[in-house]
Amino acid sequence: MTQDELKQAVARAALQYVVDDAVIGVGSGSTANYFIDELGARAGRIRGAVASSERTAERLRRHGIPLVDLNEVDALPVYIDGADEVTAGGAMIKGGGGALTREKIVAAVSRRFVCIADESKLVTVLGAFPLPVEVIPMARAHVAREIVRLGGEPRQRADFLTDNGNAVLDVRGLAITDPAALEERLNNIVGVVTNGLFARRGADVVLLGTPAGVQTMVRTDSAP
Ligand code: 5RP
Repeated sequence: MTQDELKQAVARAALQYVVDDAVIGVGSGSTANYFIDELGARAGRIRGAVASSERTAERLRRHGIPLVDLNEVDALPVYIDGADEVTAGGAMIKGGGGALTREKIVAAVSRRFVCIADESKLVTVLGAFPLPVEVIPMARAHVAREIVRLGGEPRQRADFLTDNGNAVLDVRGLAITDPAALEERLNNIVGVVTNGLFARRGADVVLLGTPAGVQTMVRTDSAP
């Protein structure tokens, strides 16, 4: 099976987590796009969707799925999104597509986070994928210096601004042995909007596409 076929298989498997007549949170990226296409064929099942990026909003719109402002809902039963790296425990690096801030906001409002990924994304230790950090443009150099002090090698993502009008630093070389601690440490640097570590609020369920089928990993401490 190709990587795209594996992504499509997990996207289809994620349909079982969709709650009928509710608003769903939808992530960004190629795996999330496959999920939107599956959802589009069943658009009548849901009340609408909160999009984690402008691109996702556009795709949902093309499928006739009503867009819902996150401020209009108290909570979302489920959020479905991809990842750049994920551990068996549900910690992730996200933001390869630059949508990390809105993704983290939607995830924070969701009761259940379902991560959909092909098997190449599963790692034991996060960090081979450069960690995206969204920064306020005037703080870019300051944040980069602070990250170097932490042992990272930041590089500004070329010709790129997020949906929020901010820059992204992609950081290599960090030893991410304690993702939750590093997530908090990076958040505390003045000028950082969000970093791509999703450990404090990780995935509750990881659906992993493998040639042998879709594997389901459930975090044992997550709410039902
Ligand atoms: C976008 C993301 C994506 O979920 C992540 O980059 C994975 O993308 P893909 O499904 O295309 O591999 O975090 O900001």
